[in-house]
Amino acid sequence: MPADALERIARSAAAAIHEVDTAALPGFMRQLDHAALLAMARTLGRNGLFRPGIRHRWDQIADRLRAAPRHRWILRRWLTALHDEGLLQRDDTTGFVHDLRTVRRSEAADATALVADAAHGLGYPAEMARFFVATIEQLPRLLRDEVAVQTLLFPDGDLSTAEGAYKDNVINRYLNAAAVELLRGECRRAAAPLRVLELGAGVGGTTAAVVPALADEPVDYLFTDVSQFFLDAGRQRFGDRLRYGIFDINADEPVQPGSADVVLAANVLHNSVHIGHLLARLRDLLAPGGLLVVIESCREHYQALTSMQFLMSPRDGEPQPGATDVRAGTDRIFLTRGEWLDELVAAGFTPQLNLPDPTHPLATLGQHVFAARTDELEQP
Ligand SMILES: C[S@@+](CC[C@H](N)C(=O)[O-])C[C@H]1O[C@@H](n2cnc3c(N)ncnc32)[C@H](O)[C@@H]1O
Repeated sequence: MPADALERIARSAAAAIHEVDTAALPGFMRQLDHAALLAMARTLGRNGLFRPGIRHRWDQIADRLRAAPRHRWILRRWLTALHDEGLLQRDDTTGFVHDLRTVRRSEAADATALVADAAHGLGYPAEMARFFVATIEQLPRLLRDEVAVQTLLFPDGDLSTAEGAYKDNVINRYLNAAAVELLRGECRRAAAPLRVLELGAGVGGTTAAVVPALADEPVDYLFTDVSQFFLDAGRQRFGDRLRYGIFDINADEPVQPGSADVVLAANVLHNSVHIGHLLARLRDLLAPGGLLVVIESCREHYQALTSMQFLMSPRDGEPQPGATDVRAGTDRIFLTRGEWLDELVAAGFTPQLNLPDPTHPLATLGQHVFAARTDELEQP
């Protein structure tokens, strides 16, 4: 991609958040993470489980807390997070954990009291701040599956909370603006119409940014998700200008080669069981010289570990699918920025752009947009 195009995309992304003091963002993120870490520690410290010197295997803790089997992987991630942050000790040889730092109710409450301001500073709507606080307050019940995170996220079936999570916050405004500019650039390149396949379009946070921006361009837009629920909601919202269809990124079906000029995937590819296999399918599906635009979290937010991650648990009685790629055996959902770049190259893509720059304060929020191209057809 030419340097002036890359610069235009970076400028558009920055312009979308021009009023934001980006230097303040890492502090707000830390406040959310801190409140979540203390809530995890309070949940684990219940019933005097962690008396000084007593060591536990993770499954003993899960049993004592009556953690639902489907959510136990989240508990394992909490133990890792608390250990990484120095709130819990772990024996390297046995993996037993011990000496959880005591968190008083007032300390946790003080941290939770800052959540609304921090969420506001990150550009989340008030519904989202309420959701974060509700998940913290309900954490033991979420872990025991006595309350479903969906009922907190979609109160009365209202999608606005989830929509705010992906669309209205600072980092997603920035990333969506970059995606818009990338697609505009492809409209200029492509023979009309530009065939866009959106994967995991869900509540349409990215769709809602992209579709109006391309209103005057000849675009054939296929809105897909694994869930019919989101297709119905998408059709109601975006109408007949888009086409709609089920697309499961983990399905083992052959794809139609060259059937899209752009694949757009916002916050969905981490659901893949094997990123390398999926990227190879997407490479085959794209036309020669086609563009893959991926928005992804590249770090695990502790705040998400007490809220959104509950959406990632398998249904009751179903096994945890478990990634078989670079994340195998870790319960980790997200790839790092470096892993994404490596996977894209390994799958035969040429990375074109990655924002924000790792040195930018926005990078501490951990979400990135990647654009990568498939090879052009060789001229005879
Ligand atoms: C975190 S949401 C992202 C929503 C949307 N892209 C946005 O930016 O607003 C993840 C979406 O991926 C979808 N999803 C989950 N597993 C999937 C799969 N295997 N194939 C396709 N979509 C999937 C979910 O239904 C959900 O809509």
